[in-house]
Amino acid sequence: MLLSTLVILVFKLIGNKSILCQDDGEYNSVPPECTHECSKPTLTDMMVLTDDSSLKNDFPDGSKVTIECAYGFEADHGSDTITCTGGTWSDVELVCKKKDCGSPPTSPNLMYNMADGTLLGALIQPVCDEGYYLQGSSYRQCLPFGWSGNVECLLITCDKPTEILNGMITKRPDSELPKMDDVIEYTCNPGFKLIGNKSILCQDDGEYNSVPPVCTPIECQVPHVQFGVLKEKKSNYTHKSEAVFQCQSGYIMEGSPRIVCEEHGWSTLPVCIKESYRTTKKVTATTASTSTSTGSSSTTLGLKEMMPGPPPNSPDSPDLGYTLAVIGCIFFALVVCFCIVAIVRHHIKRKGSYDTGEALKTKEELLLKTPSNLTPI
Ligand SMILES: *[C@@H]1O[C@H](CO)[C@@H](O)[C@H](O)[C@H]1NC(C)=O
Ligand SMILES: *[C@@H]1O[C@H](CO)[C@@H](O)[C@H](O)[C@H]1NC(C)=O
Repeated sequence: MLLSTLVILVFKLIGNKSILCQDDGEYNSVPPECTHECSKPTLTDMMVLTDDSSLKNDFPDGSKVTIECAYGFEADHGSDTITCTGGTWSDVELVCKKKDCGSPPTSPNLMYNMADGTLLGALIQPVCDEGYYLQGSSYRQCLPFGWSGNVECLLITCDKPTEILNGMITKRPDSELPKMDDVIEYTCNPGFKLIGNKSILCQDDGEYNSVPPVCTPIECQVPHVQFGVLKEKKSNYTHKSEAVFQCQSGYIMEGSPRIVCEEHGWSTLPVCIKESYRTTKKVTATTASTSTSTGSSSTTLGLKEMMPGPPPNSPDSPDLGYTLAVIGCIFFALVVCFCIVAIVRHHIKRKGSYDTGEALKTKEELLLKTPSNLTPI
């Protein structure tokens, strides 16, 4: 309930407060008179006396004062005057309401959260569109003079992208300063490789998500091929530089002898294959038609390769005689082996030594040696 006036009945004393009975039997004065008067009116927080009225001290019967709405409040309706009658102020009819600051002035890319309303004391929150950041107060309040603070929404931009050594920016936004979500792409000059992130992104905090990449010279380590030899060995190999391999003697190269230092390392390296092995393999594949001419060592290997399982070339073999010769060869080899083993055993027994691993080893060694002793075939 709005307290409009405080009703206090005051009788003001006019004249002398005390009178004296004199020696002549008369009073020295007439008694004072008491009249109705109002005290200064008491108003709610929303109202004040006008300047004129607030200067007055006496509010005798019938006097009027004017009231107005306090700072930040506005008159809604009702009379702004009250009258003192018989020591009582008349009811205040004026109705004041809180000032309404209304919607704040619009500004580009800016909106307000006005859930709290726009009346005096209300707080509103400015919100910027995506890609913009707020400059100014994060809240504005409706005050008697209007909205407090001032705000602006500014475009989020990142610093000018930095140029890199030995490389360049190959993708960038049209604008001088990249905006949020803009991508900067880097590429290294030929002969250099990119270390780091190829592209960087301007984030909503005005920073890039990564530092720019670095371009470093492409270099290859000294290449190595087993059983191979480098011609003109260098301490370092730059992009597109070449290295040339030879195989050690007795080895044959498969692949190109010339390799190139590429961005991700050397191009395909050659391999050096033992010459005899390679030849034998070929020989075996072509039903060993030339094995007789390849010499003793190749015969050894040829034998070993052919030992496991008889080759399925018998039915339509063009040279049955040769096959028979090979089988005879094997048979002869086995017989020789057997004989040697028998001799060795006999020898060991006669010497009275034990049948230990040593003996076995000897046997194996002999077995291995045997075929090479069969050259005369
Ligand atoms: C590449 O970017 C990611 C973020 O996208 C970052 O976490 C990383 O650290 C960056 N790498 C380098 C080498 O800067
Ligand atoms: C690479 O080799 C060249 C000569 O071939 C030399 O001038 C250069 O300093 C070398 N670079 C490095 C990093 O070793």
